[in-house]
Amino acid sequence: PLACVVTFGCQQNVSDSERLKGELSEMGYGLTDDINEAQFIIFNTCAVREHAEDRVYGNVGVTKALKKQNPNIIVAVCGCMAQRQSVADKIKRSYPYVDMVLGTQVQHRLPEFIYKRLSGSGRIFELELLNGEIPENVPIKRDGTFKGWLPIMYGCDNFCTYCIVPYVRGRERSRNSADIVNEVKGLALAGFKEVTLLGQNVNSYKGDGETTDFPALLRMVHDQVPELKRIRFMTSHPKDLSSGLIDAMAELPRVCKHIHLPVQSGSSRILKLMNRCYTREKYIEEVQQLRAKVPEIELTTDIIVGFPGETEADFKETLSLVEQVGYSAAYTFMYSPRKGTAAATMPDQIPDEVKHDRLERLNEVQSKVLRNGNMKYIGTYGEVLVEGCDHRSEPMAYGKLSNFKMVYFPGDDSLVGSMRNVKITGSQNNSLIGELV
Ligand code: SAH
Ligand code: SF4
Ligand code: F3S
Repeated sequence: PLACVVTFGCQQNVSDSERLKGELSEMGYGLTDDINEAQFIIFNTCAVREHAEDRVYGNVGVTKALKKQNPNIIVAVCGCMAQRQSVADKIKRSYPYVDMVLGTQVQHRLPEFIYKRLSGSGRIFELELLNGEIPENVPIKRDGTFKGWLPIMYGCDNFCTYCIVPYVRGRERSRNSADIVNEVKGLALAGFKEVTLLGQNVNSYKGDGETTDFPALLRMVHDQVPELKRIRFMTSHPKDLSSGLIDAMAELPRVCKHIHLPVQSGSSRILKLMNRCYTREKYIEEVQQLRAKVPEIELTTDIIVGFPGETEADFKETLSLVEQVGYSAAYTFMYSPRKGTAAATMPDQIPDEVKHDRLERLNEVQSKVLRNGNMKYIGTYGEVLVEGCDHRSEPMAYGKLSNFKMVYFPGDDSLVGSMRNVKITGSQNNSLIGELV
């Protein structure tokens, strides 16, 4: 039989889905991307914004017709959205063709749930959040062959007031460094060139009974797996960015010169309401320290516009921060109230039109900043890990520099997965243009 895993949300979910696929493969399922030919369909969902949830309901709805044709199909919904009791209740009530709803901490038990359902059990609702030990050695079937995701921790304890993640992912738990290093070694041995160490806040990694911090882990991975060409990590919370991490980035040549450092807002007043635990000034100081010690570093960020109480003056502070820092990418979002979070009931919710307007203005400023930021690369040389090839007109291969900038250059599919030297000759939209050297 065939199984189809449909993934929404962040890299954490992409990584979880690779484990779901691993479990399904070991059970004897073949994998398909075509929902129409699957006997087992699982939606791995995201709850971070309302729009994300709406998309899931739309997709799940499609399986109703499929099950009418073939009642033996099993449909499951798992992940962050499924973890919410209100969502599980709604599915129980209004989506009778969904066979199982699984939270974020029981996915390693998928074989057990499928077995139960196939043996005639009723519908399965498993939302247990034990915040216990992280299950190791869950089978995994990776999507790629040369770059991979590698979770080093799960959950989040920060409770930023807008964010649902701590509620649906549970408490912060770190994997042991030996398990992480072993997994990285396995990837390097299998020919992987790049890993991205994943966590909601990697800077607060505390492994091995809280004795290993993130800079120490980075050094272990770097020194114990010399075959690996590139090490990336995300996400870094500005409140926990240490000088130890900055030093490690400066000293370790195979740690990429890029940091994703979500600022969320440029106004200290809004940052306080968001419970981010840093000010605009502290953030800018960190950026200056990063640039001083790692001169070739590029920064990317996340920004929310229209957080409750955000005035035009607050928003202008976000615009000026974006100009001042000079990000090479900013992922920008309109604030979306999440039931159960502190910000959802704060006064002065911002009307949609204002959010739209601010998002547009922010994106314009960011585009301008990016165009200027790209100019300085023209005429320089760098190394890319080739990720793919675009065949829309002339075949253009593309890949990222260590600093996360994307470069397009004339080349074909045979280059995919290799490291290549390029010369930057221009820039277009969000990317750089180059040629092989
Ligand atoms: N752990 C990461 C981000 C996780 S969620 C961090 O601390 O930065 C990814 C991004 O989604 C966040 O950085 C934030 O910008 C955005 N986001 C989270 N909740 C949101 C909400 N309720 N409305 C709009 N954007 C939100
Ligand atoms: Fe959400 Fe904040 Fe945790 Fe990031 S650090 S996942 S934004 S609560
Ligand atoms: Fe990621 Fe969405 Fe969950 S952003 S952690 S999949 S709520």
